[in-house]
Amino acid sequence: MQTTPVNTQNTPYRLGYHIAAPTGWINDPNGFCYFKGYYHIFYQHYPDAPKWGPMHWGHARSKDLSHWETLPIALTPGDPEDKDGCFSGSAIVKDDKLYLIYTGHHYYDGDDNPDHFWENQNMAYSEDGIHFTKYAHNPIIGKMPADNTQHFRDPKVWQHGQAYYLILGSQGQDELGRVILYRSTDLVNWTYLGPIAKSQGAKQQGYMWECPDFFHLDGQDVLLFSPQGIEADTDKYLNLFQTGYFTGTFNAATDHFEHGDFQELDQGHDFYATQTTLTPDGRRIVFGWMAMWESTMPETAEGWAGALTLPRELHCKDGHLYMTPVQELTNLRTKHIQSARQRLSGPTKLTQGNSQEINLTATLKNTGAKQFNFKLQGAQSQDFVNLNYDVTTGILKLTRSDRNDARYATIKANENLELQVYVDASSLEIFINQGTAVFTERYYIQDTPALWVACDTAVTIQSDIYELDPQ
Ligand code: FRU
Repeated sequence: MQTTPVNTQNTPYRLGYHIAAPTGWINDPNGFCYFKGYYHIFYQHYPDAPKWGPMHWGHARSKDLSHWETLPIALTPGDPEDKDGCFSGSAIVKDDKLYLIYTGHHYYDGDDNPDHFWENQNMAYSEDGIHFTKYAHNPIIGKMPADNTQHFRDPKVWQHGQAYYLILGSQGQDELGRVILYRSTDLVNWTYLGPIAKSQGAKQQGYMWECPDFFHLDGQDVLLFSPQGIEADTDKYLNLFQTGYFTGTFNAATDHFEHGDFQELDQGHDFYATQTTLTPDGRRIVFGWMAMWESTMPETAEGWAGALTLPRELHCKDGHLYMTPVQELTNLRTKHIQSARQRLSGPTKLTQGNSQEINLTATLKNTGAKQFNFKLQGAQSQDFVNLNYDVTTGILKLTRSDRNDARYATIKANENLELQVYVDASSLEIFINQGTAVFTERYYIQDTPALWVACDTAVTIQSDIYELDPQ
């Protein structure tokens, strides 16, 4: 990204090819869309300091989902309908204009309790995709359903036939999370249709559902959302809040969504508040916020905080979502620095660098191998991120030297391991076996990391490593 962080002198954590704010704070991706030849992504942004504050919409665009150009801030809060924040929302193209639909956040005058707020839904539009005008008659949804609490936000809008639909993250007065649906023919007047899905218990499925997204993918309907309040359960739901999905079938006659169990989309420490769009050639692409609420973000010392994940393509098979880096990311490759096939067992250093794509196949099946380790470690420091595959059980376990809480995923036992890994200055995204499991991590290794792999028996490893354009 072409950006100028606050401190340009000493920024070891500054990401190269990921979307981050030029300066200040970012959280959720917003308004992801394709408009007049560009992909646009917006994000929750506080430009004045590397901490959450009155939310703006920061903005970047790209022709290829790989190289991003920072644009001026698209939405600034402070108008009567978005007095204390332009919260998350989405975008839609209609009659050659780009419309942003977002939540206005409001505190009560003279009350400084941050839990005392109210929310409404607003619109802004643009002809050039750069300059936005707020709709003169905002809000477009001002009144909540009678059985809603103050949690009423994050509109995701889409078109189906002649109609527009919009869902919101919501909390019912029973203090359970839910997703509620609206319909419109003009984007301005919205009819409330009711909840399409709701939590079956605060500790099992959440007291509030943020950032919902709803789409059809590979023959299934998918509700992707970020529930708050799910309790940790052995090796699942270990982050403060989760992002995951239900797959099932939406019944248009009853506006109800019949679905299966909640599944997490990414197994890493740093993944939240996703948003998807469709590419012109019909691929469903997702961005997430590469962070977690309340986590330490050492990059704040550099004047910025938070970033978006790489864009990833989603697929659905047998009720499971698979997430792989978009094919356009090959545009970031500047040099093919390794193509090697070797037999190894004990710790072997494969490469060193903090702007690399590492493609690795470990042939483990029926070799008697029991433990395989993939470890990024500082050349001088002892800081590390380690991914262990227990070949006999299929359990993947990710550990980090700066945290004492591991993260887990389970794939098949006795499998070959195919890893596609993106290393940026302080982020690591590990895609395992065509996106069956994914770990997204911000890591904070002071010096340039080296990649080590190790196995308890001699196995064959194929590695293809590319240097990436740090932009
Ligand atoms: C999710 C979220 C949204 C809200 C936004 C505020 O991370 O809490 O529900 O719109 O962040 O920044």
